[in-house]
Amino acid sequence: MCGIVGYSGEKQAKPILISGLLKLEYRGYDSAGISTIEKTGISNIKVKGRVATLEDIAEINKLTGTIGIAHTRWATHGKPSTINSHPHLDNDKSFAVVHNGIIENYSELRDFLISKGYKFLSQTDTEVVPNLIHYYHTNEHLGFLESVRRACLDLKGSFALEIISSLFPDSMIVVRKDSPLVIGKGDGETFISSDIPALLSFTKNFYLLNDMEFAVIKKGDISFYDINLKPISKEVKTMEWDASSAEKDGFADYMLKEIHEQPRAIRETIGAHLSPNKPCEFDELNIPNLANFEQIYLVACGTAMHAGLVAKNLFEKLCHISTAVDIASEFRYRDPIINDKTLAIFISQSGETADTLAALKLAKSKGATTIAISNVIGSSITREADYFTYTHAGPEIAVASTKAYTSQVVLLSLMAIYFAQKLNSSNNNLLQELKKEILALPEKIDAVIENTDSKIHDLAKVICKEKDIFFIGRGADYNVAQEGSLKLKEISYIHSESYAAGELKHGTIALIENGITVIAILTDEKLMEKSISNIQEVITRGAKTVVITNLELPNKKYDYIFEIPKTSSLISPVLSVIPLQMLAYYVSKEKGLDVDKPRNLAKSVTVE
Ligand code: G6P
Repeated sequence: MCGIVGYSGEKQAKPILISGLLKLEYRGYDSAGISTIEKTGISNIKVKGRVATLEDIAEINKLTGTIGIAHTRWATHGKPSTINSHPHLDNDKSFAVVHNGIIENYSELRDFLISKGYKFLSQTDTEVVPNLIHYYHTNEHLGFLESVRRACLDLKGSFALEIISSLFPDSMIVVRKDSPLVIGKGDGETFISSDIPALLSFTKNFYLLNDMEFAVIKKGDISFYDINLKPISKEVKTMEWDASSAEKDGFADYMLKEIHEQPRAIRETIGAHLSPNKPCEFDELNIPNLANFEQIYLVACGTAMHAGLVAKNLFEKLCHISTAVDIASEFRYRDPIINDKTLAIFISQSGETADTLAALKLAKSKGATTIAISNVIGSSITREADYFTYTHAGPEIAVASTKAYTSQVVLLSLMAIYFAQKLNSSNNNLLQELKKEILALPEKIDAVIENTDSKIHDLAKVICKEKDIFFIGRGADYNVAQEGSLKLKEISYIHSESYAAGELKHGTIALIENGITVIAILTDEKLMEKSISNIQEVITRGAKTVVITNLELPNKKYDYIFEIPKTSSLISPVLSVIPLQMLAYYVSKEKGLDVDKPRNLAKSVTVE
């Protein structure tokens, strides 16, 4: 988490840095800060709070420097405060650093530097970095790049760093390891950021750094070096996203815009993989000997993991390969059984989530064949995996994921169909039917939004006053219950639980009392009677019920019922999740909360 931005060129850096920070705020918003090279040395203005608070500081208007770095923070080491905000400077105020990531051995490095006479002002892990650079520069008489490299070799953990220096006022150095950083190429100017959308209004051309590669930036001139400081060359990648796709486009919030963008996101994701009456195509996944795989793992965090839960059913049903879904932070430490008969699929909107990336490296090192699914071209997991493919949801800015989730479910469904075709493991009629249903999803999503919007808004006015909400379902409906519950809690701060409907009576039903709201999802004909019985059990105990269904229910005595279009129960989450996303959105709005930037959360979790 944390967002970093940098500029080197002929223009004043400040407005460009502020514009970048505002777009990166979704990554963290505990505090913000900016440093530029001024005639008097390095400026350093920082504040607890949001970027808007930073802009209010009078001093910021005096900055005229054309090279600068800036940061928006999601606190890890040291509470949110002005002193803990970035940029951090060394004791001599010669080097300024912004950092995204975690320096795991900072305490040891701090002790070393203290023994050499350095003093520390903050509680952060980052403050060791400018001091270490200063140490190598003054004690070992190394140049700027050599000093930065030596400091980086001492660091354990993850880092994307931007460094400027009053001693080398024309240069900025950037480096990354396990944290995201992109370099935008301009005309005689260079932009740096934690992600691509923040720079789209300035450039569409980017360089991507690999771990422990350095870039020395002097306005439009960029020199790249490997870990041994051997010069290397880099290709420019041009991004297809346009700047307006990263703007609100007339919607009140990014989340609402992204909910409405789902039909388009899915159409784009289906893209060339599927056309009517044709087999599914995945040129990028030309994996030999598919039939040798005995185990599939789907590994991810948060909402991406929920997409994996839906896909598990598809892989098992269509490919007949045992499939397990793992939370990346668990997978990486639980010593899973992995060998050359393992296919491990990693799902990540950003492609930068630290745990997902580490889990991928682990699976690869143990001999698995790895596939990365990401929404961001060139993101870290795509560079690490044996194979990769993309969702085409466009930039997702709201912290609560919506269009990335439905696009991931669709892409994974297509992938399961593609493998089933190659393995000849599934009934052809079932595959044809499923493909037809997938192609119809975008239109059906439009219908769900149109038909449920105002009723969901009314329901939100009731739910916003509640303290606990329960979501239940069976099969894929349970997977949607999990996602619906996560959406509600993350942006409305209402406590919610999701349960497999059949499991309720093993404990959770004890919490159901008069007036509690239970939201049930029912889209699987085979499980209808069982689910109806479970709903009846909570009604008997006084619950108010909200039902989301595409089935002909025998009785409709529920407090709220939302009817959605029919589709295959294997992919129904793409439709049934929509009212739940909208409910979370409207509840959050009713409570007057910041929908796009929920407290304590960040969009891209690049620390463990
Ligand atoms: C954070 C975000 C979620 C996201 C998860 C995984 O928790 O708030 O929206 O699902 O990270 O992110 P990824 O980029 O790996 O999909």
